[in-house]
Amino acid sequence: MTTEQAENLGGGARRFAGRVVVVTGAASGIGWQMARRFHEEGAAVLAADLDPANVPAGTEPLAVDVSAPADVEAMVARAIELHGRIDVLCNNAGIGSGTDVVDCTLEEWNRVLGVNATGVFLGMRCALPHMLAAGRGAIVNTASVAGMVGLRNRAAYSASKGAVIALTKQVAVQWADAGIRVNCICPGTVDSPWVQRLLADSDDPDEERRRLVGRQLVGRLGSPQEVAEAALYLASDAAAFVTGTELVIDGGLTAA
Ligand SMILES: NC(=O)c1ccc[n+]([C@@H]2O[C@H](COP(=O)([O-])OP(=O)(O)OC[C@H]3O[C@@H](n4cnc5c(N)ncnc54)[C@H](O)[C@@H]3O)[C@@H](O)[C@H]2O)c1
Repeated sequence: MTTEQAENLGGGARRFAGRVVVVTGAASGIGWQMARRFHEEGAAVLAADLDPANVPAGTEPLAVDVSAPADVEAMVARAIELHGRIDVLCNNAGIGSGTDVVDCTLEEWNRVLGVNATGVFLGMRCALPHMLAAGRGAIVNTASVAGMVGLRNRAAYSASKGAVIALTKQVAVQWADAGIRVNCICPGTVDSPWVQRLLADSDDPDEERRRLVGRQLVGRLGSPQEVAEAALYLASDAAAFVTGTELVIDGGLTAA
């Protein structure tokens, strides 16, 4: 066994030594922790975001709107230009919405679907030809429990995340025999800057936090790093037998 193989054993400190990883939504919350942890475990990380000023140290910042085809093409082209390949793609960028079907405007619907669902489609469409040519690759898409169960006032968001789960399975089936693994993660409510903003904007932040915590059997919100660790597992060789699945990280929310 070489040093690199030893380092890459599951749970080791450098499972991603020599790997090229692209993470979207890497300037905040869950994506920031993904980028930080992949870098910490030895990967060359391209950290894409609308505003990449605050991506983790040691990662390559890229200004990307994942709903814009030209931006996503440029993101993948940059990874190929710098490193010649992409081993892992984490389509994590996403936006929220807090309306029901009656109140959701067509503009909001298209915006949420455009980032959360079309963004994932574009990322996979651009990266897959390179992964197929290499005969290997792992994709981790960030979905949500909102794509699995109904949550109040999350019409467009739920539809977008349901699409991510379904597309993850379709792409996994399409290329399971070509060395490509495609999985998604379904977080419950996570204490990211997004959720902190959502709480701050609510009429009664303490009550809203209690309500969100109360849905999760473990009695707390998740941390962005806890979710990132699940993505690292799915992207790692320890998950070589795992494809087409949704890994739920929700403190028991959907088990109840
Ligand atoms: N926080 C939660 O409770 C929770 C729960 C389930 C799923 N998720 C999902 O996790 C992902 C990350 O959420 P978070 O809580 O870390 O949010 P966050 O707002 O803290 O971070 C999201 C990042 O994505 C970036 N982004 C938004 N739109 C983009 C676009 N069009 N192109 C490129 N980058 C864009 C933002 O600039 C931001 O840096 C999202 O897909 C979200 O739907 C979050």
